[in-house]
Amino acid sequence: MSVNSLEDADIVIVNTCAVRQKPEERGIRYAKEAKRRGKKVIIMGCVAQKRKEKLLDVADAVVGTREFHRIVDILKEWKFGVLYTDFGSLTSYFLWRRKNVSFSEFVTIQIGCDNFCSYCIVPYTRGREVSRPVDDIISELTYLESRGVKEVTLLGQNVNSFFYDGIDFADFLKVIDKKVEIPRIYFTTSHPRDISLKVIRTVKNSKHIMPWFHLPLQAGSTKVLMDMGRGYTKEEYIEIAGKIREIIPEATITTDIMVGFPTETEADFEETLDVVKKVKFDHAYMFIYSPRYPSKSAIVYKNNIPEEVKGRRLRCLIEEVNIYIKERRELMLGKEYEILIEGPSKKSRDYSKGKTQGNLTCIVPGIFEPGTFLRVKIKEIIGLTPVGEPLQVISYPISF
Ligand code: 5AD
Ligand code: SF4
Repeated sequence: MSVNSLEDADIVIVNTCAVRQKPEERGIRYAKEAKRRGKKVIIMGCVAQKRKEKLLDVADAVVGTREFHRIVDILKEWKFGVLYTDFGSLTSYFLWRRKNVSFSEFVTIQIGCDNFCSYCIVPYTRGREVSRPVDDIISELTYLESRGVKEVTLLGQNVNSFFYDGIDFADFLKVIDKKVEIPRIYFTTSHPRDISLKVIRTVKNSKHIMPWFHLPLQAGSTKVLMDMGRGYTKEEYIEIAGKIREIIPEATITTDIMVGFPTETEADFEETLDVVKKVKFDHAYMFIYSPRYPSKSAIVYKNNIPEEVKGRRLRCLIEEVNIYIKERRELMLGKEYEILIEGPSKKSRDYSKGKTQGNLTCIVPGIFEPGTFLRVKIKEIIGLTPVGEPLQVISYPISF
């Protein structure tokens, strides 16, 4: 049974991220606190993979990124003092018959990453890139469909390089679109170097694949992009984003952007702002560069941009990004959207929140069951959040 507070737990599973230093430290602090309170502690995820046996003094079990199925034995057999950080076999990795299924689920289609972007720890903590067998994914999706799941997000570090038995990512999306009747299928993350016109056109022509593209920019200066090992130029990024909007006008484009990469000058940072101005993202996750050993940039460069410069660049970037998010949200005014209700809105009581097909959060007055499809008309934008008037509850299938 899962519980809601640390106090009530017997065993605490800390699932960790190592992409930046702060979340890594936060995970370890949480594990230490749980241990101090006498709990059995299991550390999982990228920090477990990275620190391995060194964590055995703060945790009773350490479970890496490709052995997470071991958690079953640990819990069943109450087996502690164990370390599972091998990059195990693929078949054992994909245990998919979930018992508790929600209206919205994630399905892994690819593990690991081969890109070795110079700032990134992921290839070290998650291993080489492997695409999962297509039939295996289809069975999982069919199972989720039979359980009434309304939306699924297909996950991989670089889904556009998915390749299995002669089937590339676009072909794979076509297979899913034909064989699976889950109303909404999303995928993330797309690499700007690898996303093809074929994929964009496939999304355009599909019934279930939703028009949301998460396309991490990271930086706007071609020089910095080269130092990061991203494999595309500023112009190529702008071009591919333009193609998405040209082929699918209703598509949303979201991104990840970093400031303070060691070779980023003020002029380079201006180029990032320039891309933001030209592309007009629908949403962005923004970060300050964090050196991650043993990634290349942590070894090769000194992290010598002053903290206050990085902080200023981040604030400035957020401000600029928000200008265009606001502009994009205002385009929604007066238009109708189909939203999928997620639950009550945190900000205002008596409101529910849901997502458009383009994955943008809206709020609507009224309490609706999570998993309800609702047609809404956007009446106003509060801050950056569209507020819709509920028009009609939709029972799927509608557009098939
Ligand atoms: N420092 C800061 N941000 C990073 N990311 C990845 N590595 C780092 C790092 N060393 C960001 C990237 C990536 C997102 C998941 O995290 O923007 O797309
Ligand atoms: Fe990291 Fe680059 Fe792979 Fe993304 S594509 S996980 S940033 S190495």
